[in-house]
Amino acid sequence: KTPLRVEFVSSGMINSDLPPSTVPEFALVGRSNVGKSSLLNYLAGQKQLARVSNTPGRTQTINLFSAEKGEFLLVDLPGYGYAESSLSTRAHWQKAMQEYFEKRDGLFAVLLLVDIRRDIQPEDEALSRWFQQLGLKVIAIQTKCDKLHKSKWNTIRIQHAKKLALTPSQVLTVSSDKKIGLPDILQTMSGLLDS
Ligand code: GTP
Ligand code: MG
Repeated sequence: KTPLRVEFVSSGMINSDLPPSTVPEFALVGRSNVGKSSLLNYLAGQKQLARVSNTPGRTQTINLFSAEKGEFLLVDLPGYGYAESSLSTRAHWQKAMQEYFEKRDGLFAVLLLVDIRRDIQPEDEALSRWFQQLGLKVIAIQTKCDKLHKSKWNTIRIQHAKKLALTPSQVLTVSSDKKIGLPDILQTMSGLLDS
């Protein structure tokens, strides 16, 4: 499968900075450094559309991208759970993100990224349930699968699904580095759009 055609639209700190959403929006959510921006680049087949960094806390704004000539939007968000972020940053993340998830018209689905090598954190569990309560579709994506032998992927998928209150079929596995998992993600996204 070919990557998506993706173009940058705009960035903002809060909802009112963003253009109104008129098409379904998919948000990339997860801890700092989990690989959200890398996944966006992988989906787009581009190297530097979204900024990637080894330093957690790279993405600081809500970044809107248009996909497939405006059929839907992809949103790269700042991560959470970065231990060294100051309290004020955390408070800011919570406030801006709460507003984004609760009020953003057009927000349709959340791609909740978790590192395949790490345990699911209480924040991930709480967010998954909260998104579902808000009526959003949730797909979990296990990132960096190149770091773990393939024979372990499925067991972890089942564990992660349970913790996130999802079914195993709602948990996908990806490596943006080694380019694994794109067809599954694209197929799942278009399935959601058609449902
Ligand atoms: P914040 O913007 O800080 O929230 O982080 P992020 O979730 O956007 O993570 P980002 O895409 O910037 O990637 C963080 C680090 O993980 C970078 O060093 C990436 O190169 C690395 N990384 C991302 N995806 C993969 C992957 O599939 N495999 C491996 N091995 N490393 C990856
Ligand atoms: Mg990022």
